[in-house]
Amino acid sequence: MNARMDGLRRRLGGFAFGGDYNPEQWDRPVWKEDVELMRRAGVNLVTVGVFAWASLEPEPGRYTFGWLDEVMDLLHGGGISVDLATPTMAPPVWLSHGHPEVLPVMADGETFGFGNRLHYDPTSPRYREHAVGIAGKLAERYSHHPALAMWHISNEYGPTAYGPCAAEAFRTWLRRRYGDLEALNEAWYTRFWGQRYTDWAQVAPPEVPRTWSNPARRLDFKRFTSDALLECFVAERDAVRRYRDDLPILTNFMRFYRHADYWRWAREEDAAALDIYPDPGRADAHVAAALNFDLMRSLRGEPWLLMEQAASGVSQWRVNNVKRPGRMRLGSYQAIAHGADSVLYFQWRASRGGHERFHSAMLPHSGTGARSWQEVEALGNELPRIAAAAGAPSTAEVALLFDWDAWWGLEDTYGLPRNDFDYARIATDHYRPLLEAHYAVDLVSFAGDLSRYRVLVIPNAYLVHDGFATAVEAFAAAGGTVVISLFSGVVDRDNQVRQPAYPGAFRRLIGAYIDEYWPAREEETFEVEFADGTTATADWWQESLHPETARVLGEYTGGDLAGRPALIRNDFGSGCVVYIGTRLSPEALRDTVLSAVRAAGVAPVVEGAPPYVEATRRDRYLFLLNHSDTRTASVAVPGPGVELLGGSTVDGTVTLAPLAVAVVELS
Ligand code: GAL
Repeated sequence: MNARMDGLRRRLGGFAFGGDYNPEQWDRPVWKEDVELMRRAGVNLVTVGVFAWASLEPEPGRYTFGWLDEVMDLLHGGGISVDLATPTMAPPVWLSHGHPEVLPVMADGETFGFGNRLHYDPTSPRYREHAVGIAGKLAERYSHHPALAMWHISNEYGPTAYGPCAAEAFRTWLRRRYGDLEALNEAWYTRFWGQRYTDWAQVAPPEVPRTWSNPARRLDFKRFTSDALLECFVAERDAVRRYRDDLPILTNFMRFYRHADYWRWAREEDAAALDIYPDPGRADAHVAAALNFDLMRSLRGEPWLLMEQAASGVSQWRVNNVKRPGRMRLGSYQAIAHGADSVLYFQWRASRGGHERFHSAMLPHSGTGARSWQEVEALGNELPRIAAAAGAPSTAEVALLFDWDAWWGLEDTYGLPRNDFDYARIATDHYRPLLEAHYAVDLVSFAGDLSRYRVLVIPNAYLVHDGFATAVEAFAAAGGTVVISLFSGVVDRDNQVRQPAYPGAFRRLIGAYIDEYWPAREEETFEVEFADGTTATADWWQESLHPETARVLGEYTGGDLAGRPALIRNDFGSGCVVYIGTRLSPEALRDTVLSAVRAAGVAPVVEGAPPYVEATRRDRYLFLLNHSDTRTASVAVPGPGVELLGGSTVDGTVTLAPLAVAVVELS
């Protein structure tokens, strides 16, 4: 039950459609036209004021709310609801000029100055005081405005600070975590290189590693930074909530964002919300997008909000390709298919100047004659056809581990057998076969409830918590199927190697130990032969695996590890564990993951559809998306129903033209 989000859905009567609206960039006469065109495009929600701090508080304590009053009234008059933002991602110049300590000192010791955005130190008491101040003023004034539907706190929380405020806050965080200095010395293993601390005042954020800095200290600093940013969110949220309790309050997350543990964050919000900018220049960008969408849904186990996307191209990359005709619509439905209850864009009207003047917008520079406007307008007027699906839940029997501590351990602490791990990419590699074979997937953290799944995939979880290892054992013992891949279970929460043998946390589970990790040499590949005589290639990584209770599924046919296992399988209680000790080719990884899922008896959403078609379910709504630019696909549908976008009756199969979408309400 999420009463605040239910309230929002009721108010909007279905999916939210709209985007960031920055009227302070335009003169008054434009505002009226904006509202007229918004109505034409089916817009029902806009996010106002994200970067408007300087226009709302031009001098400390002097507020100029008049223009915002007008905008709120205008929007309300047009029947458009407002997601009101606190503008604290971009503090006005008077704050950083008058109080330079609010600017973040970066890892290299340089100060990040005014002239961009994100120029705030999240640990600065002065920044927090002003941020909470403006948030409270906005809430005081607009909490009961009839246009107000929800709150958008700040924007894409992000900066990491290393200055004096951060050092002080880090020490406070560490004291809370460890209580006494001896516990910190133990956790950080300061006996190495004689780093023992004897006074809290000696403890500081990790410096730019000249060789490299203490790996446990780096890990704690990641955790601390995520928490420090979260404190900023919570402080503003509470300042706003004081005035009214029934509206959703949230902030917007980013794709594969490493510096904030979104599992912890999502608990503090009324819904998860994501900004997504898949590169239109990459044919498979939808795969990582789907993973991010599933992550958003999993964070709270609920529908989430697509808070920003581009109507066409972005402007921050070297080459910014447009979204070809049909792609924006397809990507929007893809988010909905994975649980989004909104399609929102950055931004409503394309800016004339400023950093992002060439970022596409719902209303582009060339106005309503533009191809991309027409696609936006068409989508906004089409979405009401599936309004009944808003709020519909999704279920999955396959879970994939995606945990920030695992990520930080692997990528942020250096000193590993190889130091080019890419956790998000590895997770995507394991996710892709499931997506392409039409299995529903939830993401889980170390703290996740595994009991509702039949299969758990653990990609490359170098660092795992004890409690998770225990939970995975219980899951397997009770009949679950577990697929674990390379270099997992190696260290504990403090980044210390589990003794006496790799892969410490998972040794019993996989029924084998590893005596050495063997990162591959440049260009080196390996052949793996399976029991049935088939072979696969692998590269990048090997492990010298010694089965204890496991049996061998595939072994190396050549090289130093010839005859040694690359893949093993261990029966564990009533379940089983497959362990992959190398980087398999995409095809072999696909076959390994899918055979485990099939053997576990999990059914895909649809049978026999091609891999470029995506299929998901939200309750009785079946979403089919054809990602191919050229191929038509026929998909067998599990039961009769009605295709809601076209209004036709479905019985048997649905035919999808290239880039087509079908939303079938199954009877
Ligand atoms: C997001 C950000 C927006 C806009 C957009 C397009 O990350 O929240 O303000 O910058 O990207 O680049």
